[in-house]
Amino acid sequence: MSIGQAIRSVRVRVYEEFFARDDFDRARKTETSRTVHRKRLQVCRSAQSYFATQPEFFERACSYLPAEAKSYQFFDLGSGKGRVLIMAREHGFRDITGVELSRSLNRTCKRNLEKLKMTDVQVREEDASAIQFPDAPLVIFMYNPFKPPIFNKVIDHLARHTQPVYLVYVTPMFRKVIQETNHFTPIVELPYLGVYRNPACPAVL
Ligand SMILES: C[S@@+](CC[C@H](N)C(=O)[O-])C[C@H]1O[C@@H](n2cnc3c(N)ncnc32)[C@H](O)[C@@H]1O
Repeated sequence: MSIGQAIRSVRVRVYEEFFARDDFDRARKTETSRTVHRKRLQVCRSAQSYFATQPEFFERACSYLPAEAKSYQFFDLGSGKGRVLIMAREHGFRDITGVELSRSLNRTCKRNLEKLKMTDVQVREEDASAIQFPDAPLVIFMYNPFKPPIFNKVIDHLARHTQPVYLVYVTPMFRKVIQETNHFTPIVELPYLGVYRNPACPAVL
């Protein structure tokens, strides 16, 4: 890499971490756009850095879910600053929970939710691999939050869930783990998105 390229890449990173504010945040006066590098999050080694899901990806993912999924319990595993929680509420999901390991991201998330008066959205400061899911139909959202072995543990828990589960996986780097369970059926598999259902979900006609 030349010195010019190195300077440009540092400038981009500084902008993204400290100054970025995209249309999503401008419209809602929230702070979800700025990325946070994994090393600054002080979480486990399997964790990925904080990046916010683009609204187009969320909308696309929702378009593969049946209407009744809006009445399911929605979980964002690795909820960061809460952008997906906000979008889920705006899309009509009613029972919404975010699970995030990082204390500082959770603080920002709660500030964002308060600003939007979405105080009934739950935010849990926990490791997603230790979550006891309620015995209820679920929509699980993940934007590439963690690598194996944490990812395997989460998928293993979900594969044992007896109620319907829709799994939305954005930037599905470890989709092989889901495929290898032979339990989840793909609704769609694109390079940047996987949506899956378990056998308890209604069959797609
Ligand atoms: C790519 S960000 C996604 C943020 C948010 N879901 C969104 O799409 O806007 C991934 C998040 O997962 C969190 N994370 C990583 N490992 C985790 C774990 N074991 N349990 C809970 N959260 C975790 C990171 O701290 C980070 O905020």
